[in-house]
Amino acid sequence: MSLHRQSPPPNGRAGVADRVDRLTGGRLRAGVRWILGQALPHTVIIRAGRRGDLHGRLFAASNDGRLPVLLEAYDALRAEGPLYRGKYAYVTVDHATLKEVLTNTDLHAGVDVGGAGGPLARLQAWGEAAAPLGPITPPSLLVTEPPDHTRYRKLVSRVFTVRAVNELRGRTEQLADELLDALVAEGAEEDPVDLVERYCALLPVTVIAEILGVPVEERHQVLEFGTEAAPSLDLGLGWRQFRRVEGALHQFDAWLERHIARVQREPGDNLLSRMVTARVDGRGLDPVELKSTAGLVLAAGFETTVNLLGNGIALLHEHPDQLALVQEQPDLWANAVDEVLRLDPPVLLTGRMAAKDTTVAGVRLGRGAVVTAALAGANRDPQVFEDPHRFDVTRANAADHVSFSAGRHYCLGAALARMEGEIGLRRLFARYPRLRLVDGARRRSTRILRGYEQLPAVLEG
Ligand code: HEM
Repeated sequence: MSLHRQSPPPNGRAGVADRVDRLTGGRLRAGVRWILGQALPHTVIIRAGRRGDLHGRLFAASNDGRLPVLLEAYDALRAEGPLYRGKYAYVTVDHATLKEVLTNTDLHAGVDVGGAGGPLARLQAWGEAAAPLGPITPPSLLVTEPPDHTRYRKLVSRVFTVRAVNELRGRTEQLADELLDALVAEGAEEDPVDLVERYCALLPVTVIAEILGVPVEERHQVLEFGTEAAPSLDLGLGWRQFRRVEGALHQFDAWLERHIARVQREPGDNLLSRMVTARVDGRGLDPVELKSTAGLVLAAGFETTVNLLGNGIALLHEHPDQLALVQEQPDLWANAVDEVLRLDPPVLLTGRMAAKDTTVAGVRLGRGAVVTAALAGANRDPQVFEDPHRFDVTRANAADHVSFSAGRHYCLGAALARMEGEIGLRRLFARYPRLRLVDGARRRSTRILRGYEQLPAVLEG
């Protein structure tokens, strides 16, 4: 997920550049960010792919999005051994090596395109000093390393333990039922209902909004920010889309500031109220850390789970025998959710960069080396998963997937996402057992996040 890391602003480098910046209304800096963070790396990686570089091919396949194309890219990488050395990055689709990468403390989350020092790095730092806060800009948990990472995580992790999540089960069931009740009069043959819009998106956003004390009437606004900003994880956005994404991040930022101020004035029984006052070793989160952490938890809380629900509906619909199995044996639902996560993961890949010389799979990596961890590829490693392309809700080791990453950045919301996935899918198919997906299913255009934008369904008949 963490493909770019933003460096701190250069000290006292104001002057001419900043005057130009004011005159161009920030477009110059945005242009620098776009060229160095998007256009340039994307162009060189894709070009290398055309010349046979498998890392480049993997990026092209993620852009393409079709499953056979992605599978071909994973197979080609697997044939090269546990750690493929590309022109610009190493890549692994090997389950054991991928876990080694994600647990190696010398490999840090976040990738600096400009590298350390040098004119390119200084230019990049200048451009990024004016970037909006986002999921992969510091001090986001996703691109922070200990000791700060440990401090941020401690402040939020208690709320997301398996026990705490179990206490949210009843409320999640109630919310799922309310959303399904609202569909009762819809989904006729001639007027299918879009399950992504009406169910998959609303269930997780409502749960996480309640956890963070967001008023229900602001839920749609938050969803909109999230959908607009989701491509911020991707590489290769066009200029106009890049500007739209940054615009959405700015708006989200302004909304978060107002929301945090409201919670500070009127604290309630929610995570954000606790985060505002929480201390670890006598130290709390400063205003930017608070905004970044709350924003990440909120956005990660629905932008991925919506995909888990949509991907799950599509897989179960495609495999009626597997759907019949979970319906006959409801105890299998939890495992079925892990099998969905394994076979069609909502996050396809993440990246790490060597902070110092290190070794992975017996290969020496120099400082600055970049490693792409293809989570979706490792989930189909035949050495770990027998008949890896088969969707099998009874698979004994389905939960060994790496869709929630591994190591210190292991998904904070994994227990919550699993619980929402299980309740969301179980309740939907219990209420509408004859649910039928019809023409018009469409994948989202995001490249790292993978899911459906639209899943029209006929609910009865
Ligand atoms: C099916 C749903 C989900 C998937 C597939 C997923 C996937 C991931 C992955 C792959 C990472 C680590 C990326 C890396 O190693 O670079 C991550 C981190 C994270 N996730 Fe999730 N996630 C999901 C749901 C959630 C939910 C519901 C929350 C809300 C609490 C959440 C909050 C986070 C946070 C805060 C991090 C950053 C952790 C850190 O860097 O220490 N995620 N997630």
